[in-house]
Amino acid sequence: MADERAKEKLALEGGLKAVTSIEGRGRPKIGVDEFMAIAERFGFSKQALAKMRKAAEADDLGEGPYLANYYSPLKETRVQAFEKLACKTFGAKYAIGVSSGTAALHAAFVAAGVGPGTEVICPAIGFFATAAAVVESRGIPVFCDVDESLQMDPAKLEPLISKRTVALVPTHWQGGVCDMGAIMKIARKHKLKVIEDCAQACGGQFKGKYVGTFGDLSCFSISAYKIVGGGEGGLILAKNKRLWERANQLAECGGLWRPVRFAPPRYEGELYCGTNYRLSELEAAVDVVQLKKMPATVKRFRTVKMRVLKQLNSYAEIVPQTINDLEGEVGYALRFFPETIALGEKIVAALQAENIPAAMRGDKAAPDWHIYHHMYPVTVKSGSTDADCPYECPLYTDSGGKIEYAKGDCPVADDLFDRAISIGLSQWYNAQDCRNIAKGMNKVFSAYCTPDADARPWL
Ligand SMILES: Cc1ncc(COP(=O)(O)O)c(C=O)c1O
Repeated sequence: MADERAKEKLALEGGLKAVTSIEGRGRPKIGVDEFMAIAERFGFSKQALAKMRKAAEADDLGEGPYLANYYSPLKETRVQAFEKLACKTFGAKYAIGVSSGTAALHAAFVAAGVGPGTEVICPAIGFFATAAAVVESRGIPVFCDVDESLQMDPAKLEPLISKRTVALVPTHWQGGVCDMGAIMKIARKHKLKVIEDCAQACGGQFKGKYVGTFGDLSCFSISAYKIVGGGEGGLILAKNKRLWERANQLAECGGLWRPVRFAPPRYEGELYCGTNYRLSELEAAVDVVQLKKMPATVKRFRTVKMRVLKQLNSYAEIVPQTINDLEGEVGYALRFFPETIALGEKIVAALQAENIPAAMRGDKAAPDWHIYHHMYPVTVKSGSTDADCPYECPLYTDSGGKIEYAKGDCPVADDLFDRAISIGLSQWYNAQDCRNIAKGMNKVFSAYCTPDADARPWL
């Protein structure tokens, strides 16, 4: 009877607790073995796989939520470890791991003040995601022609700058690097922000300094196809804390990054509605390993390219691609421009017959999202609603903003993109492989071109 009364009495008042234990037993949230079977298919190293297993098991054992990148002052997350390593590797002050390179660009553009009524100068040769992220931020992409490095031509920037321009986006294209000295000079003169797109050249350097450390903000894709990458991921580097905070607000608007999550804004522009581009812990666990390997990977690529270039002869009908920094570029592609597409077709066929992986687009190729006039739906100025912001936004049109996109806007890019012959280089080629490739190239050039000691040298 006394027991019954104690059961009825509130625990608050000294009665027995209604719940003294939980009998239901949970099952693992993640099937660690199933997950690892998928990861193994991607061919990650043993070291990367071990880190992934550790992260997945920790979550299963209830020690999580480690698979979500929820910042904790008590335990460093894998994403925080990746960000720390990125700062150390590149010599950057601030880093944010995000879910993709496109997410990085969107966050960086918004952080830098891209919005309705603004313009951003992007290169004519790059990748669609860069210009698309400008539009997603409600800005207008303006395309700048390239030079014979196939990178943004600094000499063509100034005529494109208007009162609406807020940022320049040098995109280090296909393992090469932009002329960051000239670009930074123009940006400083016109007080413009620089947002580097390093997706295709992680580890590249210009005059001894990593690309990604020149701009106010820099963006990397760390997807499976990049120099550093697991599956899908991105990285932002920021020059100062304010830009880092504003980029964080876009990429993680839940405010987990803030010292006091619900504190009022500390300055105008700190808080606004962003989204969730958080990098997953599993991806970050892999990316830590990948990023550590980056310097050695880049060194191998450079060695291979240099070995081949050193052995090439000069020909009157062949112009080698200009290289803005021979010691600094990553160099996973070797490119040159034959005098005509017709000559290029013969050279490519002959190189392929020698087992040298050469390719040229020519003038009949399918559309390609690496050149501005194919960057559909940017070029058709399509908006997500009938209102068609940003192109019809009064903040843009009332200030004189008007743009159309068409082939012919950037004639150097139009010509060189189709006419360039590219040879993809493997970081694993040894000295003999490089000798064979150079020998094959000289053999083919000699058959179709005129030796010319005065032609532009390869080095
Ligand atoms: C130059 C450039 N910028 C941005 C991106 C977008 O990166 P992600 O695919 O990670 O969104 C890519 C991807 O290929 C790229 O090459």
